[in-house]
Amino acid sequence: MWKQADLMRLIEERIKDYRLIVVSNREPYIHRFRDGRVVCERPAGGVTAALDPILRASGGVWVAHGSGDADRLTVDGSDHVAVPPEEPRYTLRRVWLSRDLEGAYYYGLANQGLWPLCHVAFVRPMFRPAEWAAYREANRRFADAVLEEAGEGPTFVFIQDYHFGLLPRMLKEANPNLVIAQFWHIPWPNREIFRTFPWGAELLDGLLGNDLMGFQLRAHVDNFMDAVDVTVESMVDREHTEVTRGGRVTRVRAFPISIDYDEHDQLARSAAVEAAMEEWRGRLRLDGTQRLGLGIERLDYTKGIPERLRGLDHLLAQRPEYRGRLIFVQVGVPSRLHVPAYRQVDEEVDALVESINWRWGEGSWQPIVYLKRHFGPVEMAALHRLADFCVVSSIHDGQNLVAKEFVSSRVDGDGVLVLSRFTGAARELVDAVQVNPFSIEELADAMEQALTMNAADRQRRMQRLRATVERNNVYRWAGKILHALLQIDFPADAEVS
Ligand code: G6P
Repeated sequence: MWKQADLMRLIEERIKDYRLIVVSNREPYIHRFRDGRVVCERPAGGVTAALDPILRASGGVWVAHGSGDADRLTVDGSDHVAVPPEEPRYTLRRVWLSRDLEGAYYYGLANQGLWPLCHVAFVRPMFRPAEWAAYREANRRFADAVLEEAGEGPTFVFIQDYHFGLLPRMLKEANPNLVIAQFWHIPWPNREIFRTFPWGAELLDGLLGNDLMGFQLRAHVDNFMDAVDVTVESMVDREHTEVTRGGRVTRVRAFPISIDYDEHDQLARSAAVEAAMEEWRGRLRLDGTQRLGLGIERLDYTKGIPERLRGLDHLLAQRPEYRGRLIFVQVGVPSRLHVPAYRQVDEEVDALVESINWRWGEGSWQPIVYLKRHFGPVEMAALHRLADFCVVSSIHDGQNLVAKEFVSSRVDGDGVLVLSRFTGAARELVDAVQVNPFSIEELADAMEQALTMNAADRQRRMQRLRATVERNNVYRWAGKILHALLQIDFPADAEVS
């Protein structure tokens, strides 16, 4: 079993002379003003949650956009702040972007161009030349910061996600000695879809500045290789999934990302979580006779939240016995609200909750408890533990870490995961009840199956799910990426089965 200590040993033995720099748009710790006080918050979203434990273990520098309104107040003269604030383990280097640049690069090209292009969730991508220029400019700003942090010594730069398609080439040109890897956390579309992106050749050339390019699934690797093959001059070796361009090789591999299983497991067993469960029982007025369903995500159109609520509505229509007894807690964390498609899904969810609660509500019971805000890890683990079932119904999702968090929190070995087939996680979590979220009937049936499954079946499935996430944890993900970079064989006992 690959654990945190194994990753630390690997770093110690093989790359201790390297400086480690992680780059992502979203910062792992955000300083904000709340009621006149500065507080430090952890953002919602899988990428920072997955990478933070690794940086805490390895130390190093994390370069990210300083997006909090109190961020400038908390850095030193080099734009550094030591994090986590309560027990510093690594350095956060903040990069500043003007409102206009953030609007065009992040809300524009990244989230109205690349995000819908890659997810193919039937939201039309917008490709605006001025936003492509802003994307290039933002990548340049991050390149300057990384080069400053790297200095002259041996450095390993690990770039995250679709915000930085041009960064690897910029870095490689400025300093060919940098070892550069990038992980694309979201899907990569097939070549017919990719052809619609007007700056495909420049984007691919940028990405081929990486020594190693990682995707969630083999299917995304294949799509990427196809796109390279038809778009840029290069040698594409499909057998070894490598691309040679300008005499330099980029290895392309699949590494399904995960979470820190042990940390979730331990937190879920803690007294703090027990106390939070008690609070939720009071708040939701659970007296042991109700059944509880759960959904937790950013309010994003890729997550299939309206579909799930319609599934719930259908279930209540078909199965009167659940009226008055089934409570579905939906946590929706507001996200990217300057993008019209996000405002639309936000309004759609508000309207659906209102109409479903109006249709079925009786006395003090309402089927949906909608909580439109961010909760900390303790409150979320408590909800995971209380739920009879958790629904992840993404229309399309690179991996989906909520599914893995739910499983890791189920220290009682019980509970059912209902999981969309269109998540990367569905490849590993085969013991979940898998659904096609485009079918309201299938969603309703899956929820019913979760509610009626016998205890032995539930526990057998949950045990297997837990064993899978425990084995394929985030340290193993990072270890495999490092091994691929170091081009040494991965130990046989840790191979993906
Ligand atoms: C997804 C993306 C991440 C992003 C996260 C949260 O998981 O792959 O790169 O950080 O969503 O979204 P946000 O736009 O708030 O960073």
